[in-house]
Amino acid sequence: MQPEEKKAATPGSGPFLTRRALFACAAAGTVATASGCSFVSSFGETPEGEELLEIEKSSNWRDGAFRNQFPTSVTRSEGARSISETAGIWRRFLTEKIPDSRPDRPLHCTRTDLRKLPKTEDLAVWMAHSSIYLQLGGFRFLVDPVFFQGSPVPFINRSYEFEGGYPFSPGLTPDVDCWIQTHDHWDHLDRDSVLAMKDRVGQYVMPLGVRSHFECWGVGKNLISSLDWYDAAELGTPGAAVRQVFTKPADPGKAASWGPAPAPKGAVIYAFPARHFSGRSMKRDQTLWASFVIETGGKRVYLSGDGGYDGHFREVGALFRAKGGFDLAFLECGQYNPRDWPEIHSWPEQVAQEATDLGTKAMVPIHNSRYSLARHTWYDPLEKITAASRGKPFRLLTPRIGDVIRIGDDSQSFPAWWKELIGKKAA
Ligand SMILES: [Fe+2]
Repeated sequence: MQPEEKKAATPGSGPFLTRRALFACAAAGTVATASGCSFVSSFGETPEGEELLEIEKSSNWRDGAFRNQFPTSVTRSEGARSISETAGIWRRFLTEKIPDSRPDRPLHCTRTDLRKLPKTEDLAVWMAHSSIYLQLGGFRFLVDPVFFQGSPVPFINRSYEFEGGYPFSPGLTPDVDCWIQTHDHWDHLDRDSVLAMKDRVGQYVMPLGVRSHFECWGVGKNLISSLDWYDAAELGTPGAAVRQVFTKPADPGKAASWGPAPAPKGAVIYAFPARHFSGRSMKRDQTLWASFVIETGGKRVYLSGDGGYDGHFREVGALFRAKGGFDLAFLECGQYNPRDWPEIHSWPEQVAQEATDLGTKAMVPIHNSRYSLARHTWYDPLEKITAASRGKPFRLLTPRIGDVIRIGDDSQSFPAWWKELIGKKAA
């Protein structure tokens, strides 16, 4: 059994935002009373009953919470040697002003009407931060769509401004075959987006435990496939039975291999580890987090979810190399802090290594350009991943928000769109 992972409130993601939001709401004394039921409902539900019994069978569930493959501190304050060290981490997070933490004018986006994209074309549209619209093998996907608000209240974790407003909405999105949810943090899972798309999604795929939120918001359990790491679900079959196609590693230092069951030939979504955490309230890690692979139409796309650098990128790359590797990977690149939370988000040089480990042909850096959750400039992830990707064996793609990425088109490239806003600042 791995050592107990310590728990504390968390700068840079869900639980910390929740604590700040709750303090702010109490001080203002208005939001919760004006829309009390709606506010409480947006937190979702903790797994219990039948779902909790299912969770307790997972080897990733130990001592009442999900665990990473290796002991992981969410912040350095959890392993701080002194009170002053802990205080310093919190003082920096709460008081330090970061120049250029947000763009000083609205971002220009490509206003692509997702409904008009030919369904037969393999393509993706990055919708800022970690929200993605994707078409592959004739299937339509949404990944972590946040059409509205990435926090419990609008004045916390404010979205950047976009020319003409945020360019995507449920009304401008076609019905989709599959919704993939990587984990339950606020900046990835928005209750109102779930409600708005509820009758327009063929099936849902998500890590163990996240189903409790979707069920709480009215999504039928029969539409949801809940995956543990190394599980797979078939596309086109709502609520598809989870398939075990890998021999899971006996210990976290060993790699998984394809198991005795035949490898799926159709359209499949695989779940793999990520090094992160979860939670929408003070109680952490009651739902699992994961990375995913979509395989259909002879192509494969990798979705990192949120997380720090670890051996799973190399492991997943090795598993799919014989199949032809990945055509495209969306890798988390933003909201990092190598000093204060080095293990649960990747910094750009690590992201370039992750793409190399995966053996992907092309990579899009995500988890940036909508929220400021860390102490770097808003353009730091894009500047640094551009530098870190030079000479590496993959094509870096930096689409403007809303640009259409043609999956498998080796000739496509995108200009450094953020340069026009920062001028000489990043020189
Ligand atoms: Fe997260």
